[in-house]
Amino acid sequence: MADPHLTPVIRLAPAKLNLSLAVVGRREDGFHDLHSVFVPLALADRLSLAPARANAREDSLHVTGFDAGPVADNLVLRAIAVARAAVGEGPARAATPALAARLEKLIPVAAGLGGGSSDAAAAFDAALEAWGAELDPERRADAAASIGSDVPFFLRGTPALVEGRGERLTPLKGVHGHPGILLVTPRVAVRTPDVFAVFDAIRGKGDGSIRMSSEHLAQELGNGLSATDLIARAGVLASANDLLPAALLVAPGLVGVKRALTRTLTKAVGMSGSGPTLWTLYPSLAEAQAASEVVQAAVIAGTIPSIGDRPPSIVATTIHTGHEVPTP
Ligand code: C5P
Repeated sequence: MADPHLTPVIRLAPAKLNLSLAVVGRREDGFHDLHSVFVPLALADRLSLAPARANAREDSLHVTGFDAGPVADNLVLRAIAVARAAVGEGPARAATPALAARLEKLIPVAAGLGGGSSDAAAAFDAALEAWGAELDPERRADAAASIGSDVPFFLRGTPALVEGRGERLTPLKGVHGHPGILLVTPRVAVRTPDVFAVFDAIRGKGDGSIRMSSEHLAQELGNGLSATDLIARAGVLASANDLLPAALLVAPGLVGVKRALTRTLTKAVGMSGSGPTLWTLYPSLAEAQAASEVVQAAVIAGTIPSIGDRPPSIVATTIHTGHEVPTP
């Protein structure tokens, strides 16, 4: 990438939703084995990578939109560094000069929507493109998994059954059409490691029903499911998250928000990943948008509590399926 006039490499980094999440075991490395159906959403961050200014020796990152915390801790910089190391170890001869990254954060941060991991996957892939470097599939997969558990899913970008720590992916046909989804993210910090730690502390024997729901859903999405059929399963899916009880203990205020949302929307309300984002499903984006206005009004009226230091983030989007490029 010696030519500084090259146009920046631009990527959309979509959010994800866990339609099911079964924790099936604790591993020796401290991580947990999962059985989870992941789908990408149209809601996406925007990332661009360009050559760093002349003489700049370090990668840089400028973030706008949601506050993503200290830049030095951002997974985008880590992903570029991992990509550079992987290129350096491989047979490829590509040079890997410093990059200047710009990230527009539209996905709420630390929300259970995978935004940071998606940004990392986008940065990893975009850095390789910017350098004109290639990695063999195994090195690529190992490098992606070393950045974070959800990164392999985002690198592939299609609906998938995710197993192991996140590295075993089975692509699924997904949902026909674009069902709408309303995301309500209370502004409380819910750290994923804390949720897993509480999960370990409280885990009873469990009756395996969430695993069964997840297996059933993976099978159905493997063949392709209509939006109507997906919505008919919303009640089951809303309960198909093993991390929900732990997240409610980590952030007790979520209990009241979830109850109030259920009452306001008269719909099953699920939680994505380790939370705190809560979701409801709709046949279309327009219906999800109408619901977002109802929730907005209820937050202003105080019938849905604002926990944390600000009102929740409320976003209507769609489940993105297939191999098309997601649009906002
Ligand atoms: O891999 P990542 O950094 O995204 O994981 C964040 C934390 O979530 C880990 O430190 C671990 O505590 C927990 N985790 C887990 N099992 C997984 C994924 C994440 O225990 N499969």
